[in-house]
Amino acid sequence: MSESVEGESEPTAESDVVDEESFRLEGGTVQTTLTDEKEDELILSAYQARNSEVFPKVLDLHVEDGAKIADVTYGKGVFWKEVDVGNYEVYASDLDPEKSPCGHSVDCRNLPYEDDSFDVVVLDPPYAEGFFRRNKDMLAGGDGSHSNFRDHYSNGEVVDTNGSKYHQAVLDLYCEAGIEAKRVLKEDGTLIVKVQDEVSANTQELTHIQITNFYEGELDMYSKDLFVVVRSNKPAVSGMNKQVHARKNHSFFMVYELDETPTNILHADD
Ligand SMILES: C[S@@+](CC[C@H](N)C(=O)[O-])C[C@H]1O[C@@H](n2cnc3c(N)ncnc32)[C@H](O)[C@@H]1O
Repeated sequence: MSESVEGESEPTAESDVVDEESFRLEGGTVQTTLTDEKEDELILSAYQARNSEVFPKVLDLHVEDGAKIADVTYGKGVFWKEVDVGNYEVYASDLDPEKSPCGHSVDCRNLPYEDDSFDVVVLDPPYAEGFFRRNKDMLAGGDGSHSNFRDHYSNGEVVDTNGSKYHQAVLDLYCEAGIEAKRVLKEDGTLIVKVQDEVSANTQELTHIQITNFYEGELDMYSKDLFVVVRSNKPAVSGMNKQVHARKNHSFFMVYELDETPTNILHADD
């Protein structure tokens, strides 16, 4: 019970009753639905689409016009098929000299660029351990039936993995390329990474989480966004007796920022 102060009236049961109208939100102040037009403009976190359709959306949301961008695993340039490269300053290279517009082999772990010189790095190395096998004949897609696939995803040669094997070789490449990307990126730069998880040696390897742990934990990056790309055609199946894991038909575009302070989270002062 509250003590009454002389001269002041003791609160009555009635004055304790709140005026609930004062808590009510005004109609029209909160937009709960989007117009069709706005809905069309909205960039979503998952698409059943090609990389060439999703990559422009990643750029629209996360990259300013005029940004200086290094695509360090350019491949066949599929990502850029539906992008007006004139809106940016784009530099492209690949380990395979035939895929490198400059005609030289450039390893994404050792880029010929100055420190702090790019706004964005795009990284899409081979995501499957099969592309790193020691014996060239054993490379994924080496049986001829998937050779186009191999041609697209790897440089068709055994990649020098500095001794690491299988899934570890995949991770090492993502991690070492991440370190190099951080070197060439400006301090508020953005790293866009394409990655697909894999089952390697019958073990589920959630590569997008493994590399995120490294980029966040070791390179102080902030995982700003994640896009899921679901393929429309069926994934290839070879030599499977009994299915143990769900066959992957999705991959990710991850967006990391070097300025690791999240801009969409309020932090208490330390
Ligand atoms: C998945 S493909 C990239 C596809 C590309 N994003 C596109 O849009 O066409 C992977 C590419 O990484 C290249 N590559 C493999 N190891 C590399 C390395 N250490 N440095 C640079 N490129 C590498 C391969 O030659 C291949 O072209």
